[in-house]
Amino acid sequence: MLKKFVDPLPFMETIHPTCLMQNTPFYEVTMQETFQKLHRDLPQTKIWGYNGNYPGPTFHVQRHQPVHVLWKNELPEHHFLPIDTTVHGAEKSNPEVRTVVHLHGGVTPDTSDGYPEAWFTRDFQQVGPHFTNKLYTYPNHQPATNLWYHDHAMGITRLNIYAGLAGMYVIHDKEEAHLNLPSEPYDIPLIIQDRSFREDGSLFYPSEPDQPATAPHPSVVPEFFGDTILVNGKVWPYFNVEPRRYRFRILNGSNSRFYQFSLSNSTPFIQIGTDQGLLEMPIRVPSLVLAPAERADVIIDFSNCYGQSIVMQNEFVTQGEKPDPETTGSVMQFRVSKPLSCPDLSSIPTHLSVIPKLSNYQRTRTLRLNMREDSYGRNIHLLDDRLWSDPVTEAPKLGQTEIWNIVNVTEATHPIHLHLVRFQILDRQPFDRDIFDKEGRLVATGDRVLPELNERGWKDTVRARSGEVTRIIVPFGPYPGLFVWHCHILEHEDYEMMRPYVVIQ
Ligand code: C2O
Ligand code: CU
Repeated sequence: MLKKFVDPLPFMETIHPTCLMQNTPFYEVTMQETFQKLHRDLPQTKIWGYNGNYPGPTFHVQRHQPVHVLWKNELPEHHFLPIDTTVHGAEKSNPEVRTVVHLHGGVTPDTSDGYPEAWFTRDFQQVGPHFTNKLYTYPNHQPATNLWYHDHAMGITRLNIYAGLAGMYVIHDKEEAHLNLPSEPYDIPLIIQDRSFREDGSLFYPSEPDQPATAPHPSVVPEFFGDTILVNGKVWPYFNVEPRRYRFRILNGSNSRFYQFSLSNSTPFIQIGTDQGLLEMPIRVPSLVLAPAERADVIIDFSNCYGQSIVMQNEFVTQGEKPDPETTGSVMQFRVSKPLSCPDLSSIPTHLSVIPKLSNYQRTRTLRLNMREDSYGRNIHLLDDRLWSDPVTEAPKLGQTEIWNIVNVTEATHPIHLHLVRFQILDRQPFDRDIFDKEGRLVATGDRVLPELNERGWKDTVRARSGEVTRIIVPFGPYPGLFVWHCHILEHEDYEMMRPYVVIQ
């Protein structure tokens, strides 16, 4: 077993524009295969990284300053992870290695949004049916927040992200800068992902489920859970900190794993932001749940912890079991061992931002999360019982607000993500599944429960729990076009739990 807390926490590099293109910063990012040391005792691991780094470099952009990014693919022709060619988009007739980049949480016109079928291969030799342009533009008109960019190629997203194709994208603005929150070098993104390794250091990803029925080989798996936890690309790192406040921008970038983070000395997290920016006020949380793709902006105050070694733990029950503190129950270690280099003049204001509560809407949709069996006897998760290739059914009008009742009739929680928009969670309510299955009628079996205090901000990914109706209110805009919504468990997303939607003018 790999030893914990022997490697220092890595920091992702900040990427800088290569030039200005008509006054707009122009960035170039190349996807490359390289080898990287992910733990002291592991041989080098083959990874795919943006600019050859796993995780990719961090973007720091200013609100209202658009940027151009040219995403280039210089990856090999063959994938090093097992492709299931029965999965939509991954058929043998398509090139094996396809990529397309999505800025998760970005308010982006569809031509730069990374539609799964807008993929391209090495040097743009081949492109997908929805490919339109090489150069992407991110308008950045949204408030300060923590986004992330990652691969989104149809049918192999889970493998491309697992190989390393993910990075952070931070939007800054004046309002936030005035708050005097902890800043550089005490402001640090943490990308948390689980991985499994073979003894030779190579990434292990299962080529079929534990109980293959008549499944094809390789076969998509229903979920993936790695046996080690990486932060910023190192297995169980440690971080020497000063006795002061730090800001951590935490992203769960895992394929399937949910986390419930806490600190071993019971210090609370002070959460200041969600997926889409600052909360109205800071919320003290003893533990913090993040599903795949969710983000939490938190402050940890180490000022009374000098001399302590604090473990960031994970207590989320996965597959019916509490994680082992020796393995996936640990994330990283903070050693409050550095002397204070200068006084901590940062503050945590009692008021962070104004979040107008949405209540007016023009339309309601009821959408199921359900499950079927495919022709191989495998479970297939669907959005409202439809396949990716079925005609578009969600076509909100530009500028209109809708309430989506997400009715989860499956056994699992699904983190549901909508491209383009940010939304608010209204509430969650349990319902009678038997009646719903037989008659399609929603009969509540309990009260409507308001979202957690730390979910009462702008979100782009929401946990929809089994047996509950999760209601979200979504203003559609500011751009019309073709987008997607999906479950962010990557194994579900790749295997039909994703649907196109259009915003019509
Ligand atoms: Cu983070 Cu459509 O994804
Ligand atoms: Cu799912």
